[in-house]
Amino acid sequence: MQPDRFFQQLWQDYIAMAPQAEKIQRIFRDAEGNRPLINDHVAFRTLNLDPIQLSALEPHFLAMGYQRFEPYEFPEKKLHAWSYIHTDESMPRIFLSELEVAAFSSEVQTILQQICQQIDRRRLQQADLFWAGRLWHPITWEAYQTLLRESEYAAWFAALGLRPNHFTLSVNHLQQTPTLEAVLEIVEQHHFPLNTAGGRIKGSPEVLLEQAATLADRLPIEFAHHEQHEIPTCYYEFARRYPMPNGKLYPGFVAASADRIFESTNTVSNPKK
Ligand code: NI
Repeated sequence: MQPDRFFQQLWQDYIAMAPQAEKIQRIFRDAEGNRPLINDHVAFRTLNLDPIQLSALEPHFLAMGYQRFEPYEFPEKKLHAWSYIHTDESMPRIFLSELEVAAFSSEVQTILQQICQQIDRRRLQQADLFWAGRLWHPITWEAYQTLLRESEYAAWFAALGLRPNHFTLSVNHLQQTPTLEAVLEIVEQHHFPLNTAGGRIKGSPEVLLEQAATLADRLPIEFAHHEQHEIPTCYYEFARRYPMPNGKLYPGFVAASADRIFESTNTVSNPKK
């Protein structure tokens, strides 16, 4: 699939799960006089279980011209991740993380193994996999709570499936609000709550990357036995990159910041500082 088409379709699935992102994007597009906005990166979540482990998903990115850039570790959340960059610099970076399922209780492992066993392997050949959502029957609300007690990430994934977790607006490409602080003031003026875990702004000019995120939208999602429950879905992120000594913008991620950005989908509305 051509990257342009891939990201257009991905965006449509994303704004269905994060209606706030479309509204926020419109605010900034209007402010910029309708110039197209640039995405810094798009992030996906998965499990390190067959058949949807990171190494099985990655070939789709490579086929679109992406290359592996850097690995990241999140020991507290029991995650690891890779970032991918495209030779065409207008294409967003991709951030793909994977949960180390064996690090959790046998109860959690069983739930996650059961969902993976339901996946039709033929589905994995198609790039629309990345907005396929759940490839398994809805989990029970009880199973969701069991996952949530140990990993917000696991609960999010089991309930929502494969889809973009967030898109990220590139602050560097904005002319009217070129600082992250100026961007956040506008977001707050429009009453979109921000993730304050670790402060509104994560990172600093010293680490060459500043990031911030909204709190995820909450939408009614289907669970087993025809139940619906409102849960956190997807959020919008903002990133400003700073130049390295060679003059090029820092291309990587900062694990300490990303660690707190993950908390944008926490179910508790008041994340720990
Ligand atoms: Ni991100």
